[in-house]
Amino acid sequence: MDAGAALLRRLDPETAHGLAIAALEAGLAPSAAADPPALATEVAGLQLPNPIGMAAGFDKNAEAHAGLLRAGFGFVECGTVTPRPQAGNPRPRLFRLAEDRALINRLGFNNAGLEAFAARLHGRGPGVLGANIGANKESPDRAADYVAGLRRLWGLPDYFTVNISSPNTPGLRDLQSRAALDDLLGRLAESRASLGGRAPLFLKIAPDLDEAGLRDIAESVVAHGMDALIVSNTTLARSEGLRSRHRGEAGGLSGPPLFEASTRLLRNLRAIAPDLPLIGVGGVASGADVYAKLRAGASAVQLYTALIYAGPGLIARLKRDLLARLHADGFATAAEAVGAT
Ligand SMILES: Cc1cc2nc3c(=O)[nH]c(=O)nc-3n(C[C@H](O)[C@H](O)[C@H](O)COP(=O)(O)O)c2cc1C
Repeated sequence: MDAGAALLRRLDPETAHGLAIAALEAGLAPSAAADPPALATEVAGLQLPNPIGMAAGFDKNAEAHAGLLRAGFGFVECGTVTPRPQAGNPRPRLFRLAEDRALINRLGFNNAGLEAFAARLHGRGPGVLGANIGANKESPDRAADYVAGLRRLWGLPDYFTVNISSPNTPGLRDLQSRAALDDLLGRLAESRASLGGRAPLFLKIAPDLDEAGLRDIAESVVAHGMDALIVSNTTLARSEGLRSRHRGEAGGLSGPPLFEASTRLLRNLRAIAPDLPLIGVGGVASGADVYAKLRAGASAVQLYTALIYAGPGLIARLKRDLLARLHADGFATAAEAVGAT
C-alpha cells in the first residue's frame, strides 16, 4: 500500500476522501509513464491509452480529473452530478469494511450541481473524461433531470453516463424497468439528436438484476441507440463471507465481494447482445481482475474501492500485470483480449 493511502486510512473515510481530492487537484499525485501501445483499447469510438478507468463517485464535482488522468488512468468518469446541488444523506454514510477490502456507501448523490460541474469542465486538459448524470432526490420528473444534465453539459465531456443504478436514491432503480427505461432513453435520444451531435451515451446498471431484467435493458439500450453499458454499480446483496463489523450497514457494497456477480453479468450481456460495447466495474483490484473482465466481454474496466485501499501506485501495478498476462496468452493488445473465451 502507498504511504499516502496508509495515512488516509487512519482518518474518517469522508475526511480522507476530501484530502485525496485536494491533493489531486493541487497536482500532488505522481505522474505516470506513457502507456505502451499494447494497452490501447477502444470503447464506442473513444480511443483509450489503457483500459483502466476511474469509476464514478470518486470525483463527483469534477475537481480531480486532471490529477487522476496524470496518475495513469486511461479515462476518468466524473459525477454523479444532479441538476441542483444536493447534500446527500446524513453522516455517517460511508463505511470501510477493511477485513473485506470493501466499502458500503449510502451517500445519496451529494454533489455541487450542474453549474459548478460545467464550470470545472471548461478549458479542461487532454484525456478521456465522462460525465455521469443523475436525478435530484426530490425531483417530480426524474427523466427530465437526465435530459437537463445532457443539455447543460453538452460539448464538455467525451461521453455521458446515465446512472439509474444507485441504490441510495429511493426509487431510482425503478427506472431500470422496461416502460420507464424506454421513456427515459427515448427522451435522451431525442435530446441528443436535437443537440446535433454524437457524444456517446452509456447506461450504468445495477448488479441485482435477473435474466429477464437484463434482456429488457439490452433490448431497450439497443433500440434507442445507446452506445455502451457500464456493468455495474454497487450491490444491495450481502455475501455470506463478509467479516467486517460494518457489513450490516444500509447502502451499496463495493469491492471484491462484488467481483463475481458483476463479472457474471458482463458474460451474460455479452451473450445476449454481442455487439453492445461493455465497461466492466466491480471489485477490480488486480491485473488478473482486469484481464478477467476483458475476457468476459468488457472493452475497458473501471475501479473505485481498490484505489482507496491500495493508493495510486495500484494503477501502474495493474498495467504491468495485465501486460504480462496479455503477453503470456499471445494477445498483441488489450483490445484483442476483449471477449476472448
Ligand atoms: C463511495 C462511493 C461512491 C460512489 N458514487 C457513485 C456515483 O456517484 N455514481 C455512480 O455511478 N457510481 C458510484 N459509485 C459506484 C462505483 O462507480 C462503482 O460502480 C462501484 O463502486 C463498483 O466498483 P469498485 O468495486 O471498484 O468500487 C460509488 C462507489 C463508492 C464506493
